[in-house]
Amino acid sequence: MKTILISGVSKGIGSFIATHLLNKGHTIIGMGRSNNEELNKNDNFHFYECDLLNSQVVTDVSKQIGKKHSVDMFFHNAMYTPKHKPFLRYTDEDMIKAYTVCSASALTIIKNIISPMRKNKFGRILFTGSLIQHTGSVGQLAYLTAKSSLDGLTKGLALELASSGVTCNLLMLGPVETDKLKDNLSEEAYEKVKSSIPTGEFVSQTHVAEMIEFFLSEASTPINGVSLPVGNGSQLRSFK
Ligand SMILES: NC(=O)c1ccc[n+]([C@@H]2O[C@H](COP(=O)([O-])OP(=O)(O)OC[C@H]3O[C@@H](n4cnc5c(N)ncnc54)[C@H](OP(=O)(O)O)[C@@H]3O)[C@@H](O)[C@H]2O)c1
Repeated sequence: MKTILISGVSKGIGSFIATHLLNKGHTIIGMGRSNNEELNKNDNFHFYECDLLNSQVVTDVSKQIGKKHSVDMFFHNAMYTPKHKPFLRYTDEDMIKAYTVCSASALTIIKNIISPMRKNKFGRILFTGSLIQHTGSVGQLAYLTAKSSLDGLTKGLALELASSGVTCNLLMLGPVETDKLKDNLSEEAYEKVKSSIPTGEFVSQTHVAEMIEFFLSEASTPINGVSLPVGNGSQLRSFK
């Protein structure tokens, strides 16, 4: 059984994956602004309150986690995005906030939890990116730029850690079937997005959770420094 640190466990994909992995007997360390009552009922779940926008808090909390737990995998799932708007309305603050939560905070956390991974000659770092960093997107500059920076972090860390048994990869997720997706889209928009996916299906949270289990296994060892599209073929376009 492994110990997995997940950022952003209060809701959505982070909460789903934490539940899935707890049910498989793993230990989950959750870090984020808000806890999750259901997860908190499990003895193998440990929550650390941490606003990823506050770099001093991120440093202090991740040092605490690093001292107390031997983390095998860090799944960086938390994200920040301002409301969609045209590029002329984006501010420095929008860009910095998205970058801080999606990318910079991850490096601080990794620095403070990496030591046991190196010592054990086993470790996994998995970032959640988005397929829009592959395709581009209108109105999402801060999120798009912040997620794109994870590609560089993935490749750089994979190389620097290559000899230590620690791998670093990025899952570029396409639209995942979450409550948020249903709540935020009208029925018409929901069906339109769905039909634009080559398979006609959203990515299921169960598939994402099972992929994470695969990355926890020895079998994933040769996969390193990869930005993997996970979108039922949504990165592909057919020019008819
Ligand atoms: N859902 C999709 O279709 C989709 C598609 C592509 C990529 N992704 C990626 O998958 C990941 C999860 O997406 P999701 O849809 O599950 O998102 P979500 O429902 O918005 O959840 C985001 C999580 O991040 C936490 N968070 C936000 N700001 C934080 C901060 N400053 N400090 C600490 N925690 C913070 C939130 O906690 P609070 O309770 O504190 O807000 C929440 O637990 C994200 O990285 C997203 O970019 C999702």
